[in-house]
Amino acid sequence: MIVAIGCDHAGVALKNAVLPELEKLSLSCEDVGTKDEESVDYPDFGAKAAEMVSSGKAERGILICGTGIGMSIVANKFRGVRAALCHDVNSARMSRLHNDANMLILPGRALDNKTAFEIVRVWFETAFEGGRHQRRLDKIKAIEDKYLCR
Ligand code: RB5
Repeated sequence: MIVAIGCDHAGVALKNAVLPELEKLSLSCEDVGTKDEESVDYPDFGAKAAEMVSSGKAERGILICGTGIGMSIVANKFRGVRAALCHDVNSARMSRLHNDANMLILPGRALDNKTAFEIVRVWFETAFEGGRHQRRLDKIKAIEDKYLCR
């Protein structure tokens, strides 16, 4: 599975910590940056990763900024992206079971590495439940078709 991963300066430390964990899960990561702690603007990097997921170049994505809020706002502008901001393992699990989230957003300034690794592992190991939840995702797609520009 190809995973697009990106961050801003507030997420780079957690991204660097998470990358080896993703390799252990046999995931192939495409790191769109940023690569150091020099201040950058999160929309620039969020858009790169979200575009990869939206276009199908990557099946899943991970984005990290300080709170995770900015990256969530950016990612969810993209057609077909269902980005979930997760602070704990339960929300990571539920975002897969019920929402079929295809982007995981992490708050770099609010998570310790151990919790982040557990969130990532559970997020990749949990399958979408389908059923009544698929009907709801179909309604989200209908909203995209009606209101998004393209
Ligand atoms: C950067 O200081 C910070 O604003 C950013 O990482 C993020 O938290 C925005 O939502």
